[in-house]
Amino acid sequence: MRPLVAEEEDLFPSTPGKFKTDHHHLHRHHRHLRRCFASTSTTFLWALFLIALTASYLSFQSLVSSGNRLLAASWGGIQWEKQVRVSALPRRPAGLSVLVTGAAGFVGAHVSLALKKRGDGVVGLDNFNPYYDPSLKRSRASLLRAQKVFVVDGDVNDARLLAKLFDVVAFTHVMHLAAQAGVRYAIENPHSYVHSNVAGLVGLLEACKSANPQPAFVWASSSSVYGLNDKSPFSEEDRTDRPASLYAATKKAGEEITHAYNHIYGLSVTGLRFFTVYGPWGRPDMAYFSFTRNILQGKPVTIYRGKNRADLARDFTYIDDIVKGCLASLDTAGKSTGSGGKKRGPAQYRVFNLGNTSPVTVPEMVSILERLLGVKAKRREVEMPGNGDVPFTHANISSARRELGYKPTTDLRTGLKRFVKWYSSYYGYKYNQGKSVH
Ligand SMILES: NC(=O)c1ccc[n+]([C@@H]2O[C@H](COP(=O)([O-])OP(=O)(O)OC[C@H]3O[C@@H](n4cnc5c(N)ncnc54)[C@H](O)[C@@H]3O)[C@@H](O)[C@H]2O)c1
Repeated sequence: MRPLVAEEEDLFPSTPGKFKTDHHHLHRHHRHLRRCFASTSTTFLWALFLIALTASYLSFQSLVSSGNRLLAASWGGIQWEKQVRVSALPRRPAGLSVLVTGAAGFVGAHVSLALKKRGDGVVGLDNFNPYYDPSLKRSRASLLRAQKVFVVDGDVNDARLLAKLFDVVAFTHVMHLAAQAGVRYAIENPHSYVHSNVAGLVGLLEACKSANPQPAFVWASSSSVYGLNDKSPFSEEDRTDRPASLYAATKKAGEEITHAYNHIYGLSVTGLRFFTVYGPWGRPDMAYFSFTRNILQGKPVTIYRGKNRADLARDFTYIDDIVKGCLASLDTAGKSTGSGGKKRGPAQYRVFNLGNTSPVTVPEMVSILERLLGVKAKRREVEMPGNGDVPFTHANISSARRELGYKPTTDLRTGLKRFVKWYSSYYGYKYNQGKSVH
């Protein structure tokens, strides 16, 4: 049997004789030290090995995920950049170059088409989320494509995408319409409101403030910021600190967030408080839309009633009037004063109501639909649940009239008639002189 010392020395050949001595005690001590040293260096080597293994695993993973990202990304590349550039190019002298977020949405699609029609350059951005039927969003995007408006499939929270877009195009204006809309859905999915209306807004403002030149920023707030306000009609000076829903709270937060960016970075900001927008290519989650569907399918329509059985009323505003208000806001927006994130002077900050100034009760809206569709609705009246709706809205639009020349011209009957015509052709309902036949 080989002596233990030899065994130990064989095991640690890198330190032969270093601690060798004739003295027995010292020898034991040195042996102990060597064992310690040896085990420390083995641990050290193992640690090094593990670190190297982890590092190579992580770099492999990041290679795979960036590869996946590149494969999955629906944006980027020379061809994509060319499409963005061409779409952003104005076709009239002194035309605008506008980034429209939420371009596959109801208002965004109409605004994009109107801008393109008058010769401005437009690039759309939308994440096509499934809050309501994404195929309707895709159809709107096809409509835009046919008019040579390129819609980027992406999220306003994607900082890399936004940086790339501003790198490729010197947008003169941003029309920010992307948002999580709807009041009641916040009970089900509160975080989607924070994601799009707060985080997404900040992400977009960050990109705008860093852009050189900075664009002017026009965006959709909402009449819902008036919340529990009961002074009628609602004017921009009224209280907006009592939101009745999370949606309203995020829109109110947006007004304050945009104010901070205006103050710190010199971004020109215009906030538009839309009042119940309706019309062709509208949103299926809104009452006039779902009521039309239910009436045609013979299903009941649920009509909410407020306190003391009072009818709810809305200042329904036709899409074409809203579009005119949006375009006038872009045209009258002052230039941002900052560049590359630095403010060079005070910039414009405006807030406007865009409504119709003539509220209509919900039962009256149903009666108009009945007459247009030639079908009697099965009305189911229930007390309004406390889930974020307010009893009435009514806009004072004197400020928008003065500053923007905003003058709504479409009454609810005329607007709903156009909506019903679009609805019937889009969903394939035949109706003739007010008589609907499916
Ligand atoms: N329609 C109305 O009655 C009304 C009233 C007041 C305010 N508004 C506001 O006007 C704007 C437009 O409303 P709309 O009726 O056209 O709604 P919409 O839902 O039809 O359009 C919004 C679009 O934004 C997109 N979007 C949402 N989150 C996004 C994100 N994180 N990144 C990229 N895209 C995203 C959606 O896919 C959708 O296509 C919204 O800001 C809304 O809050 C609308």
